[in-house]
Amino acid sequence: MNIIFLGPPGAGKGTQAQRICAALNIPQISTGDILRRAIKEQTPTGLKAKSYIDAGKLVPDEVIIDIVKDRLAQDDCQNGYILDGFPRTVPQAEALTHIANIDSVIELAVDDQHLINRLSGRRVCLKCGATYHISLLDGKTTCAACGEELIQRDDDKAETVLNRLTVYHDQTAPLVSFYEGKGLLHRIDGAQGMDVIFQSIMETLGVK
Ligand code: AP5
Repeated sequence: MNIIFLGPPGAGKGTQAQRICAALNIPQISTGDILRRAIKEQTPTGLKAKSYIDAGKLVPDEVIIDIVKDRLAQDDCQNGYILDGFPRTVPQAEALTHIANIDSVIELAVDDQHLINRLSGRRVCLKCGATYHISLLDGKTTCAACGEELIQRDDDKAETVLNRLTVYHDQTAPLVSFYEGKGLLHRIDGAQGMDVIFQSIMETLGVK
């Protein structure tokens, strides 16, 4: 099954993608994680992407489309995948129609104030990609999965979060009607508890 997770920053795409991928045994393809890894390794793509990400802007379509094309050609994608954070513009969605057949688009809908609270409290592990919220960490500062120190993403600082939300409403939200028009969109209330959302997604995908 080839699935897209669509939704604003902080909607829970990464959190749910990780769980659903584990349940379905398919890879999670997060363009944000790929870019952050490239920045850490100081690759040419990473150097190009850094200024966009730090400003809360989208990385140019041609850079991202090439990354996704290469990633989807890898062997582990042959039995399905979740695209987490791609596509994010209409040109990216149009390019994807030439690369893949999408079976389902899950939109996680959450209002802006909720998102600001979530993102300001998010802590991440750059080693294994696990995501936490400070309200549930009980003062712990290391990753429960791999022991690495948890950090706050630079783009989770207040001003950048507001830019990312504006970019979402201007450039990514039009994809809701793009996929509605194709009969692929399923909207789920992303403000519910994580377990409830997980169950709703599994039911929507027809997996028990
Ligand atoms: P990316 O990494 O994709 O960021 P994003 O889409 O802004 O999404 P986030 O990772 O911020 O949020 P999420 O929905 O995954 O939420 P999460 O599960 O972590 O992209 C970063 C940047 O890279 C972009 O700004 C852009 O510059 C660039 N980029 C990436 N893809 C691109 C593309 N296709 N084109 C161009 N540029 C691109 O959850 C958030 C927090 O909430 C966590 O703390 C979590 O624990 C908590 N939480 C999650 N679910 C719940 C719940 N149900 N209840 C309570 N708390 C919850």
